[in-house]
Parts: sequence; structure tokens; C-alpha cells
Amino acid sequence: MRHVLAVSLLLAVAMVSDAQERISDKILHAPGRPPDRIVLTWCKDPTRTQAVTWRTDTSVTTAIAECVDAAAGPDTKKTVAAATSPFKSDLSDAHFHTAHFENLTPDTKYAYRVGDGVNWSEWNHFKSASAQPDKFRFLYFGDAQYELVDRWTPLVRAAFKTAPDARFSIHAGDLVNYAGRDAQWGEWFQAAASINRSMPVIPTPGNHEYMHEEGSLLPRYWNKQFALPDNGLKDLGVFHLDFQGVRIISLNTNEKVPEQIEWLKSVLMNNPNRWTIVTFHHPIYSAAAGRDDPALRKSLQPIFDKYRVDLVLQGHDHCYGRSALLGYDGARGGTVYVVSVSGPMFYESNNDKWMVRKGEKLQFFQVITIDGDALSFEARTVTGELFDSFTLRKQDGKQNLLTNETHDPRSMPAPKLWPGTPEQWTWGPLAVVLLLAGVLVAINVLRRRRAA
Ligand SMILES: [Fe+2]
Repeated sequence: MRHVLAVSLLLAVAMVSDAQERISDKILHAPGRPPDRIVLTWCKDPTRTQAVTWRTDTSVTTAIAECVDAAAGPDTKKTVAAATSPFKSDLSDAHFHTAHFENLTPDTKYAYRVGDGVNWSEWNHFKSASAQPDKFRFLYFGDAQYELVDRWTPLVRAAFKTAPDARFSIHAGDLVNYAGRDAQWGEWFQAAASINRSMPVIPTPGNHEYMHEEGSLLPRYWNKQFALPDNGLKDLGVFHLDFQGVRIISLNTNEKVPEQIEWLKSVLMNNPNRWTIVTFHHPIYSAAAGRDDPALRKSLQPIFDKYRVDLVLQGHDHCYGRSALLGYDGARGGTVYVVSVSGPMFYESNNDKWMVRKGEKLQFFQVITIDGDALSFEARTVTGELFDSFTLRKQDGKQNLLTNETHDPRSMPAPKLWPGTPEQWTWGPLAVVLLLAGVLVAINVLRRRRAA
């Protein structure tokens, strides 16, 4: 009897452990005939075009997309053939497909779906950009990188809940930790799935997009998954896009920075937009210890100063830092620099004096609104609470006017004896008063000694 009980117990344990076995990445992230990893991006003018990329298994060799004017209905339906390319990852063989919707009407809502003609995605909406500089807002995310399904999902959802009308999302690099692992991309797409299908993505490559087994210079995942403009350095993720009065420029700070300089100058020099925002991964002012990059600062900041770049959005340091208006080497400048992180891996803040607001050990998303002469910036935590906000206002012929607004008490940099900006002069004046008092006391003591 005892033996029967023991065997039953062992069988029960074996059954439980069988049931609890983790599904392998190969199964979990396997491509199928239905589309997955659907993502909107732009290759050309957002007023007239929209690109969409998706993945299937290799049985889908003819992929198509359908697009209709969402208000006008089925009569406007257009079918577009997608370009298909094979893709071999560490887990599977797949096909990526990209379709381009062209000749769109500006400021119009469209519905689209992608598939093989039988197996379709759901219908999703996107809106073409207005041909004028109309008010809009967008999202900006720092490094996502880790625990993408578990802990980046709530952050992305909080961002979407806060700004469901955001017109695109900027990702400042390190979308995943290890670019050669298909499961991590699977998680990234899963976490933002419904959002990427209706809100175009503007990604810029981080150093972790370069981490994969083959050591090739170019992240092969990047260019398969994201159809991006070919108006900068081809295949490097260096490009620009104009959206309703704002020029967005993506640089690649991982490699070939000198080769990007002349191109950067030309797109800043010939810029008809009122606002200019530059995004890249490695911050030129670092927010975490031991990561300062004076060479990158020297390469880029004088150009940002000269052409009056308004805002620079960066990642890499896994904490939050935001400047006042900063010019190179103490020069008067009009650019605000931001470092942020959206995933759950954190570095401590270096409390450096360039920051007027800092944050650590928190996941953030940012909502940026451009309305005529005003740019409003909000950094929020994963729970949607406002952590830091400011407004930049255009002033003809002068540098922007910066107004610091709401902030979380945790965002104030640690007081220093003589910090860099008037806002931080909490202890500075007190220290001076104490120093002067000390000197006066010392002089008095010396006088008395002499008199005695
Ligand atoms: Fe990172």
C-alpha cells in the first residue's frame, strides 16, 4: 500500500511539473500564416504616405495590404502588394513584408489590414499628417530593453491611456537587450502590439541593437522590421521626417558619427519647420556616473546651438535627467536635453549640475505637445503621475523661453554647495552667507587679538 501511495505521489508531482513547464521561446515566438509584429512607420512624407511592416511564416510568399478612407468606406479600398524578404533568426525562418500606402489625402483617417488575401489582421486606423503645422502630440520612450512583456507593457499602456491621440512614438534606442534574440523582439512587439498598429513608430538605434552573435556592423533586425526614410545615411537609422511643423531627426551615435555631421548640418540648414527635435541614443550630457562623452558633445552640440535645435531626446543612462537651456561649453544656447528610461532596469543618477530635474529607479514615458509657438513636455511615471513638465515658447529672433512647471519633489537634484542654475540655489546662498559670517568672525577675532 505504502508503495502504491509513493508511486501515485511521484506521478502527481511529475504531472504537475509537466503542466508547469515553460513554453519554449521557439514555440512562443514562432511565426504563423496570420500576420504578427505589425508596425506602422514612415519612409516618406507623412502627409501622403504610410508604411506598414509585418511578419509571417515562410509559407506566405504573396502578401498584400488593403487601405480605405475610414470615413468614405469600402468604395475607396485600394490593395497594395507588399515587398517580401526572408529572415532567419535564432529561433525560426520567417518572412517580413512591407507595404506602402501612397497618394493619401493629408489629415485623413484611414483603415487598413494586412495579410495573404485569406488570413488577415484586424482593421486598424491611422491618420495622415496635416499639410499645415497643426497642433499634435507624440510619445517619447527611453530604453525599454528588459522584462518587455512583464514590465514594459504597463508603461506603454499607461502612455497610450494618457495620450491616445499621440500621433507617433519616438524610441531612443535599446528597444531590446540582445538584438540577435528573436524572443526579445517578439516580446517588444507583444508589449506594444495594438499601439504600434495604429500609432507609427520612429525608432533610433541603441548600442544593444548591435548586440548579436555575428558581430555585423548593422543590426539586421532593425532594417527588416522598421521601414524608415532613405534620406540620410542608408541603413544606419539616420534620417529625418517632417510632421506638422516639426522636423524630427534621428542620428546613430553607435558608429560613423563624423559621417553624419555634414548631413546633419544640411538638414538643419534647409529646415522650413518652426520646431526641430533630434533623437539619438547616447546622451551628450550624461545622467549616470562614468558615462560622460565629451567627444560626442563637442561633435554635436555646437551644431545644435548654431541651428537652434529645440529639444534633444536620448536614452542609454537608465535614469531621468532634464536640462535647462544649454549651450556648448557654457555658451548661451537654446536646446533642452532629456535622458529617459522606459524599462525596469535602472542606474543611479550622477546628480550632475546640467540637470534641473532628475529621476532614478522609475519607469517613465513622455508626452510632448506642439501647438504653434509652444512646446509642452510632460514626463510621467508608469502609474501615469506627472513627474516633470516644462514649456518652451518661441520668441522671434531670440532663444526659446523655458518655463519649468510641475515637478515631483523627487526630481530635484541633490543640493550642492554652489549648483549651476538659479533654481538649484537652495543651499548656495546660505553657504555664501555662512562663509561671509565665518570670515567676519575670523577678522573680529584677529582684531581682538591684536588689540589685546
Ligand atoms: Fe540601455
